[in-house]
Amino acid sequence: MVTENNTPAVDLNEEVRAIWDQNAAFWDEKMGEGNDFQRILIAPACERLLALQADEQVLEIACGNGVFTRRMAQLGALVTATDFSAQFLEHARARKTAYDDQIAYHLVDATQEEQIVAFGTQRFDAAICNMAIMDMAEIDPLMRGVRQVLKPGGRFVFALCHPCFNTTGTAVSAEEATVNGEVVTTHSVKVTTYLHQTPQKGIGIIGQPASQYYFDRPLHVLFNACFRAGLVMDGLEEPAFNHPQDGSTLNRALGWANYSEIPPVLVARLRVPH
Ligand SMILES: C[S@@+](CC[C@H](N)C(=O)[O-])C[C@H]1O[C@@H](n2cnc3c(N)ncnc32)[C@H](O)[C@@H]1O
Repeated sequence: MVTENNTPAVDLNEEVRAIWDQNAAFWDEKMGEGNDFQRILIAPACERLLALQADEQVLEIACGNGVFTRRMAQLGALVTATDFSAQFLEHARARKTAYDDQIAYHLVDATQEEQIVAFGTQRFDAAICNMAIMDMAEIDPLMRGVRQVLKPGGRFVFALCHPCFNTTGTAVSAEEATVNGEVVTTHSVKVTTYLHQTPQKGIGIIGQPASQYYFDRPLHVLFNACFRAGLVMDGLEEPAFNHPQDGSTLNRALGWANYSEIPPVLVARLRVPH
């Protein structure tokens, strides 16, 4: 991927990291132990696709404040949780649980393949990356790294903002019309840019100190990076909210809870072939 000025997107990496460090305390406070996106859409789909067994070794990429890290430990997994933001890791470590002896936190930049491979080849039963792939300037090193540290048959589950419906190339709208004497509201998503996107700044949580970069990719770019690394896909979910009451923070007029037919998130499971 390249920027609007035709320079490699990866050149933005250190700025991207600085922005996440800057946002970490705010995100930790707002996310707490999971927001509506996490609780209703992401965690259930990830848990279904991961199908964790007790004592399995799991690598988490871009763990943020560790919401899903703690959940996996509670499910019995032994979790190596990583992020490239020292500030986020500090907040994750500060959230104590009864399962802390099942969690080890490490500073790892997922755009650096060797930092992932340093954990050891064929070490993990599974890997997970929640809502961060669209935040990464480059994803080939991540896919190659994960491919090497997973055991044969090991699975890699990731959730990200839906590449078709929830990117910096889309806009949401609501229309009101009278149909047969009734006022009807229709919600829709307009897609302006899909195939050729450049890094753009956006807001993850309203009020955050600094806007963050998004590196939105069309489906073929996203999944070809997985396939090039030797991973195969064998699971896919597109969770959507079912009702405006689904999420207290989402039931604004244009909040995602109104778009029951349009998934804001995509969750995929890749595997290392046997
Ligand atoms: C939207 S947050 C999601 C955090 C967490 N996975 C969750 O679901 O709450 C994105 C996270 O990705 C991390 N991140 C972004 N680029 C990264 C990279 N190249 N390597 C490691 N972590 C990265 C950020 O520091 C931040 O913690």
